[in-house]
Amino acid sequence: PVKPPQLDTCGNSTYSTNLQQTIEVACCPPTSQNPAIDYQLPPVTQMKIRPAAQNLSPEYIYKYNKAIECMKKLQEENPDDPRGFMQQANIHCAYCNGAYTYPQPGQDPFTLQTHFSWLFFPFHRWYLYFYERILGKLIGDPTFALPFWNWDNPKGMKIPKFFLDHNSPLYDCKRNQKHLKSVVDLGFTGSTDPLQVVSNNLTVMYNEMIGANTDVYDFMGQPYCQGTQSSYAAAGAVERGSHTAVHVFVGDPREAANEDLGNFYSAARDPLFFCHHANVDRMWTLWQYDLSSEQIPDKTIHSDNFNNAEFLFYDENAQLVRVKVGDCVNNQLMGYDFEEVDLPWVDYRP
Ligand code: C2O
Repeated sequence: PVKPPQLDTCGNSTYSTNLQQTIEVACCPPTSQNPAIDYQLPPVTQMKIRPAAQNLSPEYIYKYNKAIECMKKLQEENPDDPRGFMQQANIHCAYCNGAYTYPQPGQDPFTLQTHFSWLFFPFHRWYLYFYERILGKLIGDPTFALPFWNWDNPKGMKIPKFFLDHNSPLYDCKRNQKHLKSVVDLGFTGSTDPLQVVSNNLTVMYNEMIGANTDVYDFMGQPYCQGTQSSYAAAGAVERGSHTAVHVFVGDPREAANEDLGNFYSAARDPLFFCHHANVDRMWTLWQYDLSSEQIPDKTIHSDNFNNAEFLFYDENAQLVRVKVGDCVNNQLMGYDFEEVDLPWVDYRP
């Protein structure tokens, strides 16, 4: 299984621009005086319910703004606080742009990549889990739950409005200006006819969630262990499809590497990233618990290479923790669930 990275050997990350230039960027987390502790999921006293972004009350939007504002303030006060805004964004860069390498005697070092494999859903789940707890701590509301961008439903297919307010901490100027108010194009069609895009989106969702999967790995992504080379083709259906389409759709073509959402190293600098990934995470739970499948009767991965893979995060108290993939496969045990909304794509068999 993939071992947790060692922070003291974290190196620079790299990304390439649209002109194929390779740029180095520093996005390692601060090291910790205290050693990492094995994370135990706290007992669930009250289930947090992540709401659909299009249904948020003004009070909820206010609270969300407040929380992100606090996270930005924390960064200003102490740039080394691992819970600050930029530090949280850099987690994505470090895990996805090559900051963590592991020496392999007699071979090239192994570079950790949390995309393009069965680590995709678990890594992003743990990432959001701590991000959500940090936000809750910053506003003194431990029940705070991250809204999800409900892009699989026609009622939620545009960027949630409150992300577009220039005065909001949720605003990011590096987004495709032509796409701010249009229906997200989950199938990379390039069409600008909203009705056609909506209908194609539902077909895309049907395929990714139901039609295209003949085994667990088609959905989750292919196995990945220490030493594996990652490739786009090994990604699961949602990761390759709707998930990436949203990144590409929002990323800003005026920027050298389609920042922010359009590149791994910068994606999480846009607060919209986490709202997007809350819906990606929701897709995993829907697939596990809401869609019965004759083709895939058992949706659990029984491999130790999966369940014992580990990551490092800082929790809401800035304590460094080591988490296991096997501890995140059930969202309810982690203390959160999703607002129920209808799933119009379930019957959208092409
Ligand atoms: Cu880690 Cu949506 O990418």
